[in-house]
Amino acid sequence: MKGNIRILIVLSSGILFAIAMFFSECRDKGKNLEPDKRGSAYANPQTCISCHKDTYNSYTHTAHFHTSSAIDGNKLQAESMANTHIFIFNDKLKITIDKRKDGIYQTAIFEGKQIRSERFDIAFGANEKAQTYGYWKGNRLYELPLSFFKIINNWANSPGFPPDLVYYDRAIVSHCFECHGSYLEKTFVQTGPIKVAEEYDKKSIMYGIDCQRCHGPAANHVQYHFDNPTDKKAKYITTYNSLNRQLKVNMCAVCHGGNDLKTEKSTFGYKPGDNLASFYDPDFGFNASADVHGNQAKLLAMSKCYLNSPSLTCTTCHNVHEQEKSDPVLLSQKCLDCHKEQTHNFCKMGPQLGNAITGKCIDCHMPTLPSKLISFKMSAMKGASQYLLHTHRIAIYPEQTNQILSLIKNAQHSN
Ligand code: HEC
Ligand code: HEC
Ligand code: HEC
Ligand code: HEC
Ligand code: HEC
Ligand code: HEC
Ligand code: HEC
Repeated sequence: MKGNIRILIVLSSGILFAIAMFFSECRDKGKNLEPDKRGSAYANPQTCISCHKDTYNSYTHTAHFHTSSAIDGNKLQAESMANTHIFIFNDKLKITIDKRKDGIYQTAIFEGKQIRSERFDIAFGANEKAQTYGYWKGNRLYELPLSFFKIINNWANSPGFPPDLVYYDRAIVSHCFECHGSYLEKTFVQTGPIKVAEEYDKKSIMYGIDCQRCHGPAANHVQYHFDNPTDKKAKYITTYNSLNRQLKVNMCAVCHGGNDLKTEKSTFGYKPGDNLASFYDPDFGFNASADVHGNQAKLLAMSKCYLNSPSLTCTTCHNVHEQEKSDPVLLSQKCLDCHKEQTHNFCKMGPQLGNAITGKCIDCHMPTLPSKLISFKMSAMKGASQYLLHTHRIAIYPEQTNQILSLIKNAQHSN
């Protein structure tokens, strides 16, 4: 009997030891990582993987995750995609893209002589549609004159740059990082009587958008769940469904509410539940001239779908944890959740179009429109090309309807 008890004690303490080891390993996984640069309220971004593995892994394939990056040597996807490596301003002036040992450069050449050459150091944009680049000069960051545009698979003059001279002096402001990154430390330096420049601590930059940019600081959440592994109910983190609709949309609008707005304070500190008015100037609100670029929140808010339904939010149509393929047919399916023939609020064109309507709701009601803020100039061309985005003002667009109708007719004729 005594022996049995002893075996039992040895066995159970062995099991307890194994369990203890397992959990301390779990906890150490979090603890051994470097502390987060944003301060002790934040967990190292990689800790999330221990408990949210699937979400974490799929998230690393998204445009949000890749929306800014340091360029590693001379590896740059856009460079291998580009049709040409030269951009012509006029018969005297051009920029070439040169690949060298220590990186890729944009080199300006005037009448055969090199006048300026700067390296691709940082990329902005996951290159879904475009990518813009920065180069370092000390601790200041400047934009390179050429950007990459996928629609032409080529380099073009960076948006807003002068059309017939090379320009290397536009500073990349910290606000770009507030929407395209997760953190950065900056100082202001006086550069003239009324001029200040931003200088960045390069080592402080956190590229891409991490989980805590949307979900807020999560160190306590992480600590609690490492300490209480059997509690399956989320603690110390904001539950999305506990927010009212405006606050849900704000979680996206902090970056999708217009990049022409002036910030009152850095949006790096934004967390779910915060009011946007404390980050942006008071003119934040409806705006008839809202641009299709970067302003999905305002455009959606002007749609009857949004105004007349209590629940429509960004996540009705988007799952931000996954890289969504551009799939207008699948997205058109979302419209049918609310607009059906049975509920008598289906498309008025339904009877006329029959089956041809399937998968085309987006084409007519959220058509691509040119951005008013962004256009680009191609090599050796005069005038600017359009930068097209889907409008989020869901409405009736007679002109686009006519275009789609003639496409449908042509398809039917050729059948
Ligand atoms: C030690 C385990 C653990 C770690 C590490 C962890 N979480 Fe969680 N988290 C949980 C558990 C358990 C839940 C509740 C069950 C669920 O929703 O998966 C949860 C839920 C959540 C939720 C949903 C909250 C809700 O109620 O809607 C979010 C958001 C979240 N975690 C974010 C994060 C982020 C961001 C990180 C990394 C900084 C992280 N978690 C790291 C255990 C963890
Ligand atoms: C921290 C800023 C930020 C927040 C918060 C944010 N976004 Fe974005 N979002 C961006 C940026 C920047 C891009 C452009 C990414 C790229 O292509 O480089 C983007 C791109 C997207 C895209 C296009 C992705 C693609 O694959 O082309 C969708 C859709 C989107 N965001 C939806 C949302 C939704 C929904 C939310 C809220 C749940 C949200 N975003 C919150 C900054 C943000
Ligand atoms: C662009 C903003 C954004 C980013 C970045 C983001 N999330 Fe979320 N997450 C959301 C939104 C919005 C919801 C609510 C979705 C819903 O309920 O419709 C959500 C929901 C969740 C939930 C609740 C369960 C679920 O899957 O719906 C967990 C857990 C979670 N996120 C973890 C993470 C982790 C871990 C990361 C980083 C790998 C991350 N999120 C990155 C916006 C974001
Ligand atoms: C207020 C937030 C915000 C600011 C500030 C901002 N952007 Fe963006 N940017 C976005 C969003 C959102 C998108 C993607 C959707 C769109 O175009 O509407 C985007 C798209 C882009 C793209 C195209 C990405 C792709 O994958 O196609 C580039 C390049 C870009 N931004 C560069 C910049 C640069 C450089 C700055 C600073 C001068 C900047 N952005 C400032 C929100 C912002
Ligand atoms: C959450 C429900 C919901 C979703 C999802 C939704 N709508 Fe709506 N939509 C409404 C409501 C409510 C109205 C107001 C009219 C009504 O009551 O039928 C409306 C109105 C409209 C109108 C009339 C607009 C006008 O200006 O007269 C169009 C067109 C429309 N929706 C198209 C779409 C399309 C296309 C989609 C998918 C991209 C979509 N809707 C998704 C709820 C929704
Ligand atoms: C009724 C459905 C619906 C809602 C709601 C919705 N979107 Fe979209 N979104 C779309 C469609 C459709 C596209 C075009 C997708 C494509 O071509 O792959 C799109 C594309 C985008 C893009 C990429 C830009 C582009 O033109 O390709 C961004 C960024 C985006 N949405 C952000 C948001 C944000 C932020 C919200 C909330 C304010 C939101 N969306 C709400 C349907 C929706
Ligand atoms: C070829 C372009 C086209 C396509 C494709 C299309 N629509 Fe429409 N839709 C229109 C036009 C034009 C109107 C306005 C017709 C009128 O008022 O006579 C309209 C009207 C509507 C309305 C308002 C109905 C009302 O009672 O006023 C809704 C809702 C709608 N469409 C939803 C959809 C949905 C959902 C789809 C996809 C299944 C879709 N539409 C596909 C062009 C289109």
